[in-house]
Amino acid sequence: MKITILAIESSCDDTSIAILRDNILLCNLTANQTIHKEYGGVVPEVASRKHLIHIVPLLDRALKEAQVDKSEISAIAFTKGPGLLGSLIVGVNFAKSLALSLSIPLIEVHHMKAHILAHFIEDPMPRFPFLCLTVSGGHTQLVVVEGYDDMEVIGETIDDAAGEAFDKAGKMMGLDYPAGPLIDRLAKNGNAVFSFPEPKVPGLNFSFSGLKTAILYFLQKEMKKDATFIKNNLNDLCQSIQSRIVSILLKKLIQASKQTGIKEIAIAGGVSANSGLRTALIEEAKEQGWEVYIPHISHCTDNAAMIAQAAHFKYLKKEFSSLDVTPAARMEF
Ligand code: KG4
Ligand code: ZN
Repeated sequence: MKITILAIESSCDDTSIAILRDNILLCNLTANQTIHKEYGGVVPEVASRKHLIHIVPLLDRALKEAQVDKSEISAIAFTKGPGLLGSLIVGVNFAKSLALSLSIPLIEVHHMKAHILAHFIEDPMPRFPFLCLTVSGGHTQLVVVEGYDDMEVIGETIDDAAGEAFDKAGKMMGLDYPAGPLIDRLAKNGNAVFSFPEPKVPGLNFSFSGLKTAILYFLQKEMKKDATFIKNNLNDLCQSIQSRIVSILLKKLIQASKQTGIKEIAIAGGVSANSGLRTALIEEAKEQGWEVYIPHISHCTDNAAMIAQAAHFKYLKKEFSSLDVTPAARMEF
């Protein structure tokens, strides 16, 4: 009997549904919500209402694309958290009703663990133990991964997340939300001519709020002198900001590798799509003798394929959830 997992991801603004059969991805569809651009960030209430609109047509499209009949599904997987509560409620209840109506098991998945397990969707796969830098819009974590469900956070941000730093810096420069991908694109034509401070945080933790304030003051000062400063220096500003965020991330990654002795290094989460980070990691790998694992772009930002992959491992261990499971905005690792 084939193991066919249908997974639902709805932790933030994107609705995503994937189908994985015997560990082979049959489809991974995402409905983006562009409406948040108008507000400069995700509006939770709007996000949950959009999930409600997107989820049923997305399920139909997924089944069609994967050429799977509902009767062939072995289990329904969903993101339990962490994330926006209203968004999670839509996914959790949709998953529950599907599982109930099809009389099949329900599998809850931890969103941040799934970002890491996205590495097992495709070859090459990291070998245990590996070190994963998980960088998203809400989290920045250094995780020692000993097994599919044996993970320990050894460092994390004490304030903003790396993705948040990209998005907030972008907002200050008048860029649309989410600014991370835009900064990445503009930085390609710029040079890191502006120097932004490096935070002094002890141990393996990160901080990005000082950088955010430094960028704000710098822009205010320059704009007072020349109102066209941002417009005329946008590419260089993007490259300068991106280079600093990347250098902060890499410094701690190097420190974590030295501290743990682990040289199998992976990155995950939305910010792992950043070309500056991807290139810098490959360069650093030569220096440090690392084996690096960089996910396919489509598995970096939020997607249901990673939820399906995480659920596949749980299915093998028969780790099912009961129908009274509830979403969790915050979740321990
Ligand atoms: O993992 P993700 O899709 O959602 C969360 O779980 O938060 O990450 C979203 C974050 C946003 O902050 C977005 O700006 C950032 O990832 N991001 C990027 C890039 N693509 C997405 N940041 C920098 N460069 C990119 N290419
Ligand atoms: Zn995410």
